[in-house]
Amino acid sequence: MTSTTTAPRIERLSALSARRVVDPDVDIPGRLGDGQIVADELLSTHDVGLDLTADQRRRLAAEEIAAVTEEGIRFEMVLTAGFSREIQRAEKLTDPWVTYALHEMGEETRHSRLFVRLLDQLQPTAVNPLNQGVIGVIGRRVLDFVVKRPPLFYTLVLAGEEIPDLLQKRTSEHPDTDPFLVAVNRYHRQEEARHLSFARMRLPELYEAAPRRQRFQVRYLAPLLIKSQLEGLLHPGIYKAVGLPGWRTWLRVHRSPKIVQLRHEATRPILRELMSSGAFRAGRIPRGWRRLCGVDGTGQPVTAPAPA
Ligand SMILES: [Fe+2]
Ligand SMILES: [Fe+2]
Repeated sequence: MTSTTTAPRIERLSALSARRVVDPDVDIPGRLGDGQIVADELLSTHDVGLDLTADQRRRLAAEEIAAVTEEGIRFEMVLTAGFSREIQRAEKLTDPWVTYALHEMGEETRHSRLFVRLLDQLQPTAVNPLNQGVIGVIGRRVLDFVVKRPPLFYTLVLAGEEIPDLLQKRTSEHPDTDPFLVAVNRYHRQEEARHLSFARMRLPELYEAAPRRQRFQVRYLAPLLIKSQLEGLLHPGIYKAVGLPGWRTWLRVHRSPKIVQLRHEATRPILRELMSSGAFRAGRIPRGWRRLCGVDGTGQPVTAPAPA
């Protein structure tokens, strides 16, 4: 049930979504150019100290964008599954959050259609080993578990929106990014801003109403799952696809200052939301969250910001 304070804010989001319907097939035409689609300094390997050829860098740029795009489509479908399930079980279907969730699902299907078009142009060759075999089975079981637990689901929705949003922000603001990719990212970020607002509004209410064990999951399980979300986004297969040792490069990338800083920057807003909703008190932030976000027990950053 939406509280009387959030209901008008959610209704405003619905009104905005209704006014600004974008059909990417009509409004975002065009295709990628032939060159390297993102600059060297935006590659995840940038500060790992690898000596890559121009061809490897060009291919890595396409593989990285393809990996984020592909995971983006899969994530949007998990989100749609979670919302569908929640609406199907909702007590009152006229509650404002239901209407907004329906708007958001419509927007996500349009994003995913555009992402499929982008993926088709990128023609990636990488195979994500984290979606295969036993690890893949475990990952799918975890997702089934998550979508059935609203506070954990919304926490991971926030992470699944914050991390790609930050990546897309950096990509779209760089002057050397392919113009079609800039257009895709701008359009996506514009609509994701509303989705982020919605998830931020709902999470505190859901957390408060949740049984103890679901709060426990947000406190202790969520940081581990969020870290693996990022590790699955930039996966070993993309490095292997350009002739690098897949797992070894992946390990180095995820320990590199650039990616650690990205994780901190993308996850701190989620922690702030949980703190302001009273889920965590300053001084009592669980260790997993402190490590995920690079903060101390009171929520203050403990790492120096990366150079611009
Ligand atoms: Fe989206
Ligand atoms: Fe979204």
